[in-house]
Amino acid sequence: MKKILILTLVVIVSICGAQAQKKNTVNNRVPSVNGTNEDGTIHVNALETIELPMSYEGLHAPFIHALKERRTIRDLHEEEIPLELISSLLWSAYGYNRPDEMKRVAPSAVNVQEYDIYLFTREGIYLYNAEKNAILLMVKGDHRAEISQQKHFAVAPVSIVMVANYDRMGVFKNTEDRDFYAAVDAGYISQNIYLFCASAKLGTVACGGINRDTIHKLLNIKNGRAMLAHPVGMF
Ligand SMILES: Cc1cc2nc3c(=O)[nH]c(=O)nc-3n(C[C@H](O)[C@H](O)[C@H](O)COP(=O)(O)O)c2cc1C
Repeated sequence: MKKILILTLVVIVSICGAQAQKKNTVNNRVPSVNGTNEDGTIHVNALETIELPMSYEGLHAPFIHALKERRTIRDLHEEEIPLELISSLLWSAYGYNRPDEMKRVAPSAVNVQEYDIYLFTREGIYLYNAEKNAILLMVKGDHRAEISQQKHFAVAPVSIVMVANYDRMGVFKNTEDRDFYAAVDAGYISQNIYLFCASAKLGTVACGGINRDTIHKLLNIKNGRAMLAHPVGMF
């Protein structure tokens, strides 16, 4: 009888412990991007998922027009950008243009697709999930001004922060090659953002002068680097 009582107590204590651990994982820790599943999808525990409307088909600004209009615009307004435009912006930056092959609008060396694209808004920090065409809430609260001291970040309604996830870059034999290809790949994404903004009459500026340590802490980045950030807004 005594043995059964002790056994029951042990079982109850372990169930409670497991529940507490589960709760802690979901509520108290900043969710992190843990790399990719075998099928190429990212796995992450998000606080909330917002599905993005697929509206890029409606934008038909000629490519040459976008090239002619591409420029750095730092004097951004704080006015909100509609979700449709944000959806197209993220797709243009790093969406899948060949979803069957899981290939993206931006090329990447050895197709490692190492970038995680974060969207900082007044509500929180979201991770772009190209496969689901959604944004996943990772951190609650307005952290836009923490990206950089440069004043456009506090004003722009949204900012994109591009983080090279080194977990996906093991194929490169040394850190020199890894860093070189991460920097080159960042350039393609940045130019896509510039060209989308030019065609959609939005302003943006590529910024390398960002608070990397702060961003890494905010996003719980252990093995990666925030490379470039783009505040985006009306002007
Ligand atoms: C890699 C890179 C980093 C940059 N970093 C910053 C920055 O931190 N702050 C800023 O105001 N502009 C930054 N810029 C924008 C450049 O100053 C801008 O592209 C340049 O003045 C040319 O202007 P344009 O883009 O209108 O042709 C950066 C541009 C690049 C390509």
